[in-house]
Amino acid sequence: MFFSTEVYKKRRETLVNNMPKDSALILPSWPETKRSWDVEWPYRPSSDLIYLTGFEESQACLIILSNSKNILFVQNKNPKKEIWTGPTYGPEQAAEIFQIDTCYFSSDFSHIAPEILKNTQSIYYAFNINQIWDTQLNQLIQTLKNKNRIFISLHDPTRLMAPLRMKKSKEEIQCIKKAVAISSEAHITIMKHCREDINERELYGLFLSEIMKKGANAEAYPGIFASGPNACILHYTDNTRLMKRGDLLLVDAGAEYKYYASDITRTFPINGKFTKIQKKLYTKLLKIQKQMIKFLKPGLSFNDIQNKLIKLLTVLMKEENILSGSIEEIIETKKYAKYFPHTFGHLLGLDVHDPTFSETHNIQLEEEFVLTMEPGLYLPPDDLSLKPEMRGLGFRIEDDILITKTGSEVLSHAVPKEVEELEALISTGLNKT
Ligand code: GLY
Ligand code: MN
Ligand code: MN
Repeated sequence: MFFSTEVYKKRRETLVNNMPKDSALILPSWPETKRSWDVEWPYRPSSDLIYLTGFEESQACLIILSNSKNILFVQNKNPKKEIWTGPTYGPEQAAEIFQIDTCYFSSDFSHIAPEILKNTQSIYYAFNINQIWDTQLNQLIQTLKNKNRIFISLHDPTRLMAPLRMKKSKEEIQCIKKAVAISSEAHITIMKHCREDINERELYGLFLSEIMKKGANAEAYPGIFASGPNACILHYTDNTRLMKRGDLLLVDAGAEYKYYASDITRTFPINGKFTKIQKKLYTKLLKIQKQMIKFLKPGLSFNDIQNKLIKLLTVLMKEENILSGSIEEIIETKKYAKYFPHTFGHLLGLDVHDPTFSETHNIQLEEEFVLTMEPGLYLPPDDLSLKPEMRGLGFRIEDDILITKTGSEVLSHAVPKEVEELEALISTGLNKT
């Protein structure tokens, strides 16, 4: 548990205030996943469960009723398993430590839950995340229908959780700032160690080592160390290419601290000098990224932001003869998406892509939102419509931004992004060997 039990209690109270009468939120823990035969992936708890309780164990399920009762089902005690994976709480300890009204073993869910939910008319539960709990829920809903002969409406829990999680509290902002600070130092280390004839994975390993040394529990998402044409693959995670003189390297990597994410991207020349065309396109993209950050303030909608970015990128593409036609036509027909297929960014928090919810499907920025701004330009190596010197170049520049009362604060400002700064920093590293 990273915050006091009071913090979690307050969050649960706020949640209950937003719940309709006779409803229940049912949140199972994230599933455990196998990596290969007899080997599990390291377990990452559910962000919603962490947000509301701080409880990190798997095989659990939290129920919060609109009358404010909280019930937590926790994994069964298994002394043999505990020899291998360490102690688990069990219901008494979990209730006391996490200040939950009542705790039971998960194996008792099927006979206890129908009684707990006997007056419930609407359930907030997300199917297709944890199949074991999906089976339990299907049975539960059937039992409730048969027993009480009532219609139970099913709703997406994001409707309740996202509005709480979108605005970050002081303690959450501290955690994100720490995650960003850890990542920032690691990005700088990567720049200093960058050189030709080393493999992408060597830098990836260095990044992991650096963030863990500084207190990160993990990376927030699989790091992208994409050199040369790999930068055109948006979520390239093979990280296996030998880097060559003249390559750009796109590093999109972020630490997770107390389960809070950071998400930073920089693109730079591995041998410390941008080529003429690399410099020209990078400088234009950087100008756009800075313009977009300046634009951010409370009240802007996601659509406003995306539309402005698309306009700026389309102008760039037209100026550089990457696309032809009128600006209006390129935007109307979405031709720009061939070279910029994603959005301006996303909210950042316990998840690297933090959940959003708005009735209008168009989120409006508010003070204490944290988001990324990450324009990119990806020019595929096999695109014969491009000038030869442009083929295979990929750029993305991504910063983490806190929305303030009047504008924004760039949390990841410590990672260089100006051409001269990048060239100087990489060269410092090169001169040391
Ligand atoms: N690193 C994933 C993203 O930028 O959204
Ligand atoms: Mn991102
Ligand atoms: Mn990213």
